[in-house]
Amino acid sequence: MKRVGILTSGGDCQGLNAAIRGVAKALYTADGETEIYGIRNGYSGLINGDYTKMKKSDFSGILTVGGTILGTSRQPFKLMRVIDDNVDKVENMKENYAKMQLDCLVILGGNGTHKTANLLSSEGLNVVTLPKTIDNDVWGTEMTFGFHSAVDIATQVIDNIHTTATSHGRVFIVEVMGHKVGWLTLYAGIAGGADIILLPEIPYNIDAVAKEIDKRESEGKNFSILAVAEGALSQEEAKMKKKELKAVRASMPYPSVSYKLAKELGDKTGHEIRVTVPGHFQRGGSPCAYDRVLCTRLGTAAAELIKNEKYGYMVALQNQRIVPVPLADVAGKLKKVPIDSDIVMSARDLGISFGV
Ligand code: F6P
Repeated sequence: MKRVGILTSGGDCQGLNAAIRGVAKALYTADGETEIYGIRNGYSGLINGDYTKMKKSDFSGILTVGGTILGTSRQPFKLMRVIDDNVDKVENMKENYAKMQLDCLVILGGNGTHKTANLLSSEGLNVVTLPKTIDNDVWGTEMTFGFHSAVDIATQVIDNIHTTATSHGRVFIVEVMGHKVGWLTLYAGIAGGADIILLPEIPYNIDAVAKEIDKRESEGKNFSILAVAEGALSQEEAKMKKKELKAVRASMPYPSVSYKLAKELGDKTGHEIRVTVPGHFQRGGSPCAYDRVLCTRLGTAAAELIKNEKYGYMVALQNQRIVPVPLADVAGKLKKVPIDSDIVMSARDLGISFGV
């Protein structure tokens, strides 16, 4: 009989419950005596001893439900070693793990979460993780769950904007989430037929973007749609040091990069430019079919590692197979869009501009 703790950490996304269900059902199927402890609100629940013994029935009926039944929170990795109000977070987590008499801890999370998961593993806890995030930026896996559901939503936003853009002959900017990487914008931009795609990985030249809009107009196309990653940056900004860029962005009189672009492109092209920001809408709702299958495969693979007492790994998708990847290899790395990848090439071949 095994005692397993489970928590979800970082921003929520579609598929968290489907993945929790995958782990739990496979564990119960293998051993009906398994005990699962749900830890509330991410690492915060492990730090503060906020957990509960789950029932088998808790994992039924959640495949299609968005969000996470366990709750989640962001606990920055850089503060994990900092003692706040006499609370030693790492020691507390180790103590609560021992108090629950866990054989292992299952952690569902993105990049920051994996740094802490690796820390806990190096501190001697038995850890297995699953990669979640709409950003798809976790190193070591070709796909994170949540990503495809968010792509579907962002694509639908671009689809719907098309009708207004064509009717009014307007230029539209759709700002897509994705943090510091452009996976979500690239996929949604291609799927939604965007004319210009701006990614953090390919810093844009504002004159090249304006030229592309003018070119389309001279070809008789009275509208343009730009899919812009929230982390997109200009070539000038790309040359700045992290601190300088942060200061420049903080002093910017716009809520986000898209509004800055709208002003600059409006001035340069004389077009009426509108901005649409779907924001957290992209993380909500039911997981798409692809994510439900991926979550189920990752969840059952995590249960298999636990059965075999193979700890210190993230389950990942590589070459269509689910494989274990050492946590030490994953932690601290960011999976960016390779600018020479075939998907970027394919977009270029189609005539999509990346603003350079
Ligand atoms: O990591 C997922 C994500 O949605 C990013 O795309 C976005 O930058 C960030 O989280 C938003 O964070 P929060 O939900 O804390 O506002």
